[in-house]
Amino acid sequence: MRSVVYSEAGDAAAVARVEDIPEPPAPGVGEVQVAVSVSPVHRGDLVGTSKALSSGVSMRALGTEAAGVVTAVGESVSTPRVGDRVAVFPAVGAWSERVTVPAEAAVIVPETVSEEIASIALVNSVASRDVLRAIDELRTTAAVPDEAPLVVSAAASAVGKLIVRQAIDRGWEVIAVVRSERSAATVHTHFPDTPVVVTQDGRWQRELARLIDGRPVPVISDAHGGPFVQEILPFLADAGTLVVWGDLAAQPWTLATMDLLMRELKVRAVSISRWMSRPDSVRAADREAALELAERHPELLAVHATYSLEELGDAINATRTNGSGSVLLTLN
Ligand SMILES: NC(=O)c1ccc[n+]([C@@H]2O[C@H](COP(=O)([O-])OP(=O)(O)OC[C@H]3O[C@@H](n4cnc5c(N)ncnc54)[C@H](OP(=O)(O)O)[C@@H]3O)[C@@H](O)[C@H]2O)c1
Repeated sequence: MRSVVYSEAGDAAAVARVEDIPEPPAPGVGEVQVAVSVSPVHRGDLVGTSKALSSGVSMRALGTEAAGVVTAVGESVSTPRVGDRVAVFPAVGAWSERVTVPAEAAVIVPETVSEEIASIALVNSVASRDVLRAIDELRTTAAVPDEAPLVVSAAASAVGKLIVRQAIDRGWEVIAVVRSERSAATVHTHFPDTPVVVTQDGRWQRELARLIDGRPVPVISDAHGGPFVQEILPFLADAGTLVVWGDLAAQPWTLATMDLLMRELKVRAVSISRWMSRPDSVRAADREAALELAERHPELLAVHATYSLEELGDAINATRTNGSGSVLLTLN
């Protein structure tokens, strides 16, 4: 079967290639096999190729999430069944024509959800729920009143939009921070009542201060990273927490110890790579909620373009350069 693999650590555009590899093993106890139809190229997937392979391993298949149809089930699996349409995560090697995964990783897709939307229903929503869980905990511990604004950077990104949606649903006031006017327009379209600050505008800090209007901001949610961290910290209340969930700038932070020390600021990182360590019940609830979100708000799961495996290089490039939705690979 065809699969996207890499053999040497390096930039994904240089080292990822399509290869004919052996079929995955038949599903064992508690596993299912899925014929993959569509799989997204996440920014995180592209970072994955910088990791050296373990000794004795000659190649690793790429991709983490997909949509497809169950083609075989192992012993002790009651759901899903053969023929069910499923969204799968984690699906190591999801950019392959077939994957074998634990049955719990395959969630049945409601009929109203398209294949494309199903393929991007899990990772970003689950990540957004993990971020919200951290913020809930912080706001509860600090007894933050619902009126306290939540500042959300990268608010127009795939994960950012889902964070904003769920924060508004909690009754919180959100102040969105984005880089460009294009992203501001995206926020206005989806959340017309949410104020937006654009960091490409030289007066953005003044505008943010105006919107905060002297109220304490105990939590800021950030995915810009890099030098932006030092710029946003003055807006965090003393003893407040910066919840970090992305690295769009892909640059080191430029903090001095004193930036954190005198005001006892905290940093809380949240990553889907640690999500498998969450309790089973939390992961099951996250998967179900993600599919519900996809059903209720497909407009938040935007697709930029779809590519075949032969167009892998274009798909990688589009993931890095486009700013308006997920990039998908079609397989079967
Ligand atoms: N923690 C987790 O578990 C988790 C899960 C998924 C993703 N992530 C990470 O979260 C971040 C966002 O991912 P995503 O998939 O939501 O992104 P995305 O949908 O690809 O959106 C990226 C948006 O961010 C803006 N952007 C790009 N570079 C930027 C920069 N240097 N500074 C500020 N804004 C920038 C662009 O908007 P403009 O039009 O404004 O330029 C673009 O529209 C990435 O770092 C990703 O790896 C983390």
